[in-house]
Amino acid sequence: MAVAQEIRAPTHADIGADHALLPRYLLLSGRVERVIVVEKNRGPWENSRRALAGLNAEVRLGDGLSALQAGEADALSLCGMGAGRMVRILSAHPGRLPPRLVLQPNDSAEPLRRWALSAGFALVNEQMVEGFWRYGILTLQRGTCTAYAGLPLEPALRYGPLLLKARHPLLEAALQERQQYLQKLVQVEKVRAELEVLGQALALLGV
Ligand SMILES: C[S@@+](CC[C@H](N)C(=O)[O-])C[C@H]1O[C@@H](n2cnc3c(N)ncnc32)[C@H](O)[C@@H]1O
Repeated sequence: MAVAQEIRAPTHADIGADHALLPRYLLLSGRVERVIVVEKNRGPWENSRRALAGLNAEVRLGDGLSALQAGEADALSLCGMGAGRMVRILSAHPGRLPPRLVLQPNDSAEPLRRWALSAGFALVNEQMVEGFWRYGILTLQRGTCTAYAGLPLEPALRYGPLLLKARHPLLEAALQERQQYLQKLVQVEKVRAELEVLGQALALLGV
């Protein structure tokens, strides 16, 4: 599991767990000793409680980090939501963020990369995984970010500095598909701007 391999911590917090597949796996595989789940909605909160019954887990009903105290967790994951929602959750209580974050947005990770730079988190790993669609997974660690060194900032923020540096094969396919799609809408000014950044990213991949 691409997210789980990024997590090894005494206490891990998963925000928005629903059926709690990730925290359950983390506990059963021994990657973490204890889990704190925060769920905003009662149905998913009940799902998490059922999935984690009998395990070393606390399932809290609450909104994001408002239900987590500073220093309670060593790492945190947010998976399966839009990046904009994730940024709102992460920004709401900056003092409660643990030093390691693993984020799997359902859409473009660009807002999360921008947030991480401004919030003092370094991008230490980026993955792209083929599933129902292509998922990006960001691993962040509190500290100075060097991931963007030597790259033009805009394409790196949009498509991922570490994916670009690694010339990730799924990224190349994703960019080419996006380019083909956008070329049909080239009369729109915003699309032309994106195509420009996309062209820079493809050039970095040597395409
Ligand atoms: C689509 S599910 C993803 C479940 C799981 N993380 C996954 O990747 O399979 C999103 C979950 O996030 C929860 N959620 C959304 N906003 C939240 C917030 N501010 N705080 C806690 N949970 C939230 C929703 O109730 C829902 O259960």
